[in-house]
Amino acid sequence: MARVEDRTFICCRKQEDAGPTNNWMDPQEMYARLYKLYDGSMVGRTMYVIPYSMGVIGSPFAKYGIELTDSIYVVLNMAIMTRVGQKVMDALGDSPDYIKGLHATADIDPENRYIVQFPEDNTIMSVNSAYGGNVLLGKKCFALRIASVLGRDEGWMAEHMLILGIENPQGEVRYLAAAFPSACGKTNLAMLIPPAYYRERGWKVWCVGDDIAWIRVGEDGRLWAMNPEYGFFGVAPGTNEKSNPNALATTRQGTIFTNVCHNLDDNTVWWEGLDKNPPRNAIDWKGDPWDGAVSTEKGAHPNSRFTAPSKNCPCISPEFENSKGVPLSAIVFGGRRAKTAPLVYQSFDWKHGVFVGSAMASETTAAAAGAVGVVRRDPMAMLPFCGYNMADYWQHWLDMGETLGDKAPKIFNVNWFRTDEDGHFIWPGFGDNLRVLEWIMKRCFNEAEADVSPIGFLPRPEDINLEDSGVDEATLRGLLSVDPQLWKQDAASIRQFYEKFGDKIPAELASQLEALEQRLEQ
Ligand code: GTP
Ligand code: SPV
Ligand code: MN
Repeated sequence: MARVEDRTFICCRKQEDAGPTNNWMDPQEMYARLYKLYDGSMVGRTMYVIPYSMGVIGSPFAKYGIELTDSIYVVLNMAIMTRVGQKVMDALGDSPDYIKGLHATADIDPENRYIVQFPEDNTIMSVNSAYGGNVLLGKKCFALRIASVLGRDEGWMAEHMLILGIENPQGEVRYLAAAFPSACGKTNLAMLIPPAYYRERGWKVWCVGDDIAWIRVGEDGRLWAMNPEYGFFGVAPGTNEKSNPNALATTRQGTIFTNVCHNLDDNTVWWEGLDKNPPRNAIDWKGDPWDGAVSTEKGAHPNSRFTAPSKNCPCISPEFENSKGVPLSAIVFGGRRAKTAPLVYQSFDWKHGVFVGSAMASETTAAAAGAVGVVRRDPMAMLPFCGYNMADYWQHWLDMGETLGDKAPKIFNVNWFRTDEDGHFIWPGFGDNLRVLEWIMKRCFNEAEADVSPIGFLPRPEDINLEDSGVDEATLRGLLSVDPQLWKQDAASIRQFYEKFGDKIPAELASQLEALEQRLEQ
């Protein structure tokens, strides 16, 4: 039903290279343990061989993998999520330059479940699971954990980011990439439909990707981002005609639904938040009979998902198949914070932006097994996905900034999830998030003002367009407010988090933290 972070390992020779935020075991020990679990596990089953490409096949930015699996579910999902088949074998030829992946369903025993990356061997091994992020090895295992290591070595970045283009009434398209933790709104933002007020004036949003970005320095010295995936593995609950009509349209054909509720009357699917008419004659996500009018249990799992081809999406970007990707004007970080983080703020510069990303925190969601709603630090939304020591990863971000110089994108932080005393979200979110993106883009092109605060640049309330939003200026003021007491607590918690990394913490980040503490004191 979800990723299992406590069973996910980075196995490299030195534990220090995996860092304090990853589970680690010596590779030889892990191989020995795993081979025992695989031994005989496919007897009597069919083994499938899936050649797949992350990125446009044959393009200079594509990377290839071959996954062996005994699960037809994995085959069918991989065929949506990645580019698969003979074309990949042809492009690969005799080259040994591919990522090896082995998955066995075995008996789905949680005690013997392992999701293991061997970055020094370009190898991924997964056993005793059947859930997407654990078994569709091209996605988190390759395109983030292994690719982040390749990116460090080769001078590029693999990030847990959506990519979108915003077309303004003048017809210019400006691009941004945004990193939010799992189930914190990437798919929804990537497929955003502008509010009527904006639509009527010609605004459009184009989706390039909803989960993973591979980012390089282009010939022009700017950052260019491409989406290595071919489909969406999206969160079902909460997706409806109002929140994300583009996602619903994307799932109208060629789609696999996982752990949703099955309406037996008309052979359709249902999940919490789809509509107010739960089916009465249904099978719930566990496979038991379910009547939505009387059941107190959920019909769909909170992390139930759809697997749908990107090309089904009504707002898929014309640049989706452009292997070079799109040039980034902004990078946006964000998470679920009931308090503390304002609706939006801008970092003072790239280095401060890297600090903001390293200090991200968010409430945990159903996308990973374990407690939901607990605030944890999730730097750059990569805590579960960074294939090496997070402190080295931050240094890599700082080094990229040196390379980019004044061509670096501007870095922002957003929070759609501030709540009132009753726990209700204050900001309407979804389509209305464009109001915030508009300010972000204007800042990138020197078209909007800002106030200086201890945490970064804040929009003045009049800088965010509230026309037809139902939000008044006083509410917006509240959403933009920065409480120094809460921020001092946050700074203390960042300090505690950094301590885990000992002297590996980049000096620049240590001084950024000190500077924040000083600004808060003033
Ligand atoms: P992963 O696929 O796990 O990486 O998640 P994601 O970041 O793509 O998250 P997704 O867009 O699927 O959103 C997850 C949940 O957050 C859904 O239940 C959404 O309804 C909810 N959500 C998304 N955007 C907003 C928003 O702007 N406001 C509020 N209140 N909820 C949102
Ligand atoms: C996430 O959990 O961040 C996802 C879903 O995007 S999974 O592919 O399972 O990782
Ligand atoms: Mn994700």
